[in-house]
Amino acid sequence: MSDFKIGALNHVGVAVPNIPDAIETYRTLYGATDITEPFDMPEQGVRVCFVNLPNSQIELIEPLNEQSPIHNFIEKNPKGGQHHVCFEVEDIHVAKQEMENRGATVLGEPRIGAHGTLIIFVHPKNSNGVLIELMETPRGEH
Ligand code: CO
Repeated sequence: MSDFKIGALNHVGVAVPNIPDAIETYRTLYGATDITEPFDMPEQGVRVCFVNLPNSQIELIEPLNEQSPIHNFIEKNPKGGQHHVCFEVEDIHVAKQEMENRGATVLGEPRIGAHGTLIIFVHPKNSNGVLIELMETPRGEH
């Protein structure tokens, strides 16, 4: 087994039925001031924005259509809910190989995530029911 390990917590993903409403909640209830403009990721079937915090981010995710991978999640959780936790890794291909070597189920192939770097997801069954996203550390951010 290699010495591969996860790095910093990058963000917590929260699925929401409506991003503008969720932004309003973070602004008015929690006083968050640094929130990015929402943008569409059509290949992933989601609209995304980030609530920037001193040490991390909340990723707000809204399904773009009924084919969206989070459409079912919102059906089951109409008000939204915590969807995933994302840790940074140095190399996504090493991460994928090591996850598989260690017996975890990696969902799909590495793909470009909302930060523009490669990501994978690890099945919740491997992590106490939590869907884990691993993403390559964005260059220049740390
Ligand atoms: Co994410």
